[in-house]
Order: sequence, then C-alpha cells, then structure tokens
Amino acid sequence: MISFQHATVTYPGGVHALRDITLDVPAGQLIVVVGLSGAGKSTLIRAINGLVPLTDGQVLVDGVSVSGASRRELRDLRAGVGMIFQNFNLTKRTSVLNNVLMGRMHYTPWWRVMTGVYRSADREIAMQALERVEIVDKAYVRASNLSGGQQQRVGIARALAQQPKVLLADEPVASLDPPTSHVVMRDLQRINRDLGITTLVNLHFLDLARRYGERIIGLRAGRIVFDGKGEDCDERVFRDIYGRSLTADDVLEARPQL
Ligand SMILES: Nc1ncnc2c1ncn2[C@@H]1O[C@H](COP(=O)(O)OP(=O)(O)O)[C@@H](O)[C@H]1O
Ligand SMILES: [Mg+2]
Repeated sequence: MISFQHATVTYPGGVHALRDITLDVPAGQLIVVVGLSGAGKSTLIRAINGLVPLTDGQVLVDGVSVSGASRRELRDLRAGVGMIFQNFNLTKRTSVLNNVLMGRMHYTPWWRVMTGVYRSADREIAMQALERVEIVDKAYVRASNLSGGQQQRVGIARALAQQPKVLLADEPVASLDPPTSHVVMRDLQRINRDLGITTLVNLHFLDLARRYGERIIGLRAGRIVFDGKGEDCDERVFRDIYGRSLTADDVLEARPQL
C-alpha cells in the first residue's frame, strides 16, 4: 500500500531528516512510529502525501510515485490520505459539522465550499463520521466549546469524511491528558480494524506505542532502528531507539494528570 524505497530527505540547510528509509506498509496495518523529537517522524509521514519532497529515493502510495505524480495525481492522492494533527487544526468559530464537512472539500465544487451549501450526501457522510467517533450529538456545537479530546475526535471525523485509504496522525495525543489519550487511541484502533484503513501514528509515549501499535517503527536520527511487534519492544529496544535510558517523560502514565 505504502512503499518507501531508499527515501531520503535533506532539508535546505543540510539537516538529514530521513536517511535511506526502505519500508513497506501493507494495506490495513496500524503502525506506530516512535522516536525522540527530531528523529524524523513528522517528515516520514509528511512524505507520504508529498508535503515534504524527497531529495532521493521514492515513496509509492498504491503504486503511484509521490514525487513523480502529476498535479492531478497528487490531488487524488491527497484526497485519499486523511491527516490528524497534534493541535487538531479545527476552525474553532464554526460548528463541528462544518469542520467535518471540510473533509469533503476534495469532492465538492468550490462554490459549495465557499457558501457552505453542501450536498445532502456529503452531510450524511459527515454525520456518519461523527457517529463513528461518538460525538454526533455535538454536530451543531461550535468547535471552540468542545474539550480537547472532543476536538481531536472532530479532527478524526474530518479525516474520515474524506473516506481515506490512509490515515496519518502526527502526535495526535500530545495535547491530551492520559485518559483522553487512551480514548483517542482506541478510536483510531477501532477505525483501523472496522474500516481497514492503513494508519500511521507518530507517538512519543512508549507505553501507548506498545499497547496500540500492531507494528512499531523506531526512528533514530532519520534511520529505522527497530521494526517489529509491540511485545518485542522491550526496554532495551527503547534504549536503542532513544539513545538513552527511559525517563518518566517517555511514558504516558507517569505524567501528572493535567
Ligand atoms: N522545514 C524544515 N526545514 C529544516 N529542517 C527541518 C524542517 N522540518 C524539520 N526539520 C529538521 O529535520 C529533523 C527531523 O524533524 P521532524 O521530522 O520534525 O522530527 P520529529 O517529528 O521526529 O520531531 C529535525 O532535525 C528538524 O529540526
Ligand atoms: Mg514531529
């Protein structure tokens, strides 16, 4: 489904964010990417929809080379890839439903987006996405009136409204407290299992990674230093990935409640 072949990203200025990454992600897998800040996690997932250009090698999504894609192919590719962000990226002053409808943008004529007059089929898809994350009762509430966890579930619903083949989540629980982090991770896990959407999640917390990652990729300084099952990811492996001993900051449950 997603194939990195010797993928390399060197940013202007010379930072080597990804070094010769070769990785195959089969359709339907839930992958958790772990690594220290700066290891290249965001770059890895952003390379999948062409937000970060490769400087060498290639990334194929469903057989289409991202860097070789025409504008039209890139547009189609991005329509099929839902993104979920650490800070939710919602339009706070408008309703939950309008936020989720933004996920239909790729399939909607611009005048409908501008006027907010979406087709009823699109509204139906958006409501179903809200049902899937169990906040359909909030559809007409302003996004700013929701808790952080609810806002992230709107973020997930917006991505689902795209009817994506791939979901990319960049540290989706970094702004949430521990119980809410589990709720959001369970949502992602359930969606992955029920809909079979290939999912990559960047996480900082090792206990969450081990619990929810069907497969864990450990990145260190732009290289894959671990690729395996959560259960094989013991403390020694984490020390390899992090290049140091674990601290309380590396596990979710040891953090004070926010
Ligand atoms: N736009 C950019 N320009 C230059 N350097 C960048 C840019 N984005 C990220 N980097 C650098 O690339 C490396 C990997 O970054 P990133 O992929 O964001 O890592 P992570 O998500 O694991 O924290 C870091 O050293 C970071 O400072
Ligand atoms: Mg990052």
